[in-house]
Amino acid sequence: MTPVWSQLVNLAVAVAFIMALKGLSGPKTARNGNLLGAGGAALATVVVFFANPGMKNLPLIIGAIVVGTLIAFPVARKVKMTAMPQMVALFNGAGGAAAALVSVIEFLSSGHEESKVTLAATVFTVVVGSVSCTGSLVTFLKLQELMTTRPVILPGAKLFTPLVAVAIVVAAVALVVSPATWVLVALLLLSLVMGVLLVMPVGGADVPIVISLLNAFTGLSVAASGYVLDNVLLVVGGTLVGAAGTILTREMAKAMGRPLTNTLFGAFTATAGGGAAGPDDRPVRSSSPDDVAVMLAYARKVIVVPGYGLAVAQAQHTIRELADLLTARGIPVVYAIHPVAGRMPGHMNVLLAEANVPYEQLKEMDEVNPEFPSTDVVLVVGANDVVNPAARTDPAAPIYGMPILDVDAAEQVVFLKRSMRPGFAGIQNELLFDPKTTLLFGDAKDSLTKVVTALKAL
Ligand code: TAP
Repeated sequence: MTPVWSQLVNLAVAVAFIMALKGLSGPKTARNGNLLGAGGAALATVVVFFANPGMKNLPLIIGAIVVGTLIAFPVARKVKMTAMPQMVALFNGAGGAAAALVSVIEFLSSGHEESKVTLAATVFTVVVGSVSCTGSLVTFLKLQELMTTRPVILPGAKLFTPLVAVAIVVAAVALVVSPATWVLVALLLLSLVMGVLLVMPVGGADVPIVISLLNAFTGLSVAASGYVLDNVLLVVGGTLVGAAGTILTREMAKAMGRPLTNTLFGAFTATAGGGAAGPDDRPVRSSSPDDVAVMLAYARKVIVVPGYGLAVAQAQHTIRELADLLTARGIPVVYAIHPVAGRMPGHMNVLLAEANVPYEQLKEMDEVNPEFPSTDVVLVVGANDVVNPAARTDPAAPIYGMPILDVDAAEQVVFLKRSMRPGFAGIQNELLFDPKTTLLFGDAKDSLTKVVTALKAL
């Protein structure tokens, strides 16, 4: 029986988790929300030791915590902002594996004497946790570019995937009806394979959506493992992660203008190579930092479109300096924020908040789109897919249907990028060849620094 004091602490931790989520919903409160959630998790871990005197394998448990901390702490501190999704994928995979292993160990140590409901929860944890584990590892490999980021359809996958799914259902039912260790092992292996089969066909821009989905899976498997272990806090924490992950997945799919089924299984029906960027020798108009400075100095209104390249170049402080200079000249500047610009939800908000860009200057897509037709100059800083008109016009493009920023409606567009390489979705952007477009080639931070110097001299 759990002591009352520890139940009360757990209640406080559950409240801390809920408040942490609330805090994470806005840039101003996100840092405190994160600290509150992490503090709650640390407290919940410590409480376990005091509420369970005589706990077995103490040195092993403490050893595991020390090793885990020694690996995770420096990795999390050093990871680049742009590599955050990969890190989330790895941590998420570890969470899924942990939940599955906990249920496996409970099953083995109970001597197959668990109730049917507990067995059902065990099956759920093993299946969902294992799928989440290998699925997350594949997303990590894709995002880290250790394998191709394009959709991969394994030979026979169309037939094999439904077969594995059916085998999982059969093994799951068999385990509940007649518990046996070999069935559990079969279920575990089939689910690990399923994780790979599910994520391999997902490519390019869709990978982060799948990370969010797998995150929801891990949450649900942790909740089910809480049921197996009779631990209410795991049920609460897991359910919160499951719910938050599900909402985030839906929002991201919505922002990309596609149903989730299309994200997961679209590769099976897609036209091969649709919209892929090939070599393109068409001329483009490029210009110098001095020309761009003059263009900006004489503009009546400027919109900045930040994208992934702004994060790579770490140019957030320089773009702010440029915007401040323009504002001081009486030229209004706003930042147009696309919901999936960058590589994770809220990426641009976090980046610009780092440079203390006032929140009032940030405008969401729906709010800013009607403003483009009345804008003289749009500065596209390291963004590509989120302004690519192919999303409206090319049904073969992987981003077809995604709402975009209507940059092409402005009078002039300046792209800051290093080359003619495409964005994350790997497709050509016709806007680069439009007569109203100018390209300022180079690293965004270098280019912006030169534009700032030129503007100061005007
Ligand atoms: P992208 O389409 O990936 O384009 C980034 C651009 O930045 C590229 O054109 C690249 O061109 C340029 N760039 C890279 N490093 C640079 C540097 N140091 N200096 C200057 N330019 C640099 O980015 P986006 O427009 O932000 O779109 C985001 C993409 O990620 C979308 O496809 C979206 O669907 C996907 N995605 C995002 C999320 C979230 S939640 N944000 C989730 C899933 C998927 P060069 O290489 O020529 O420089």
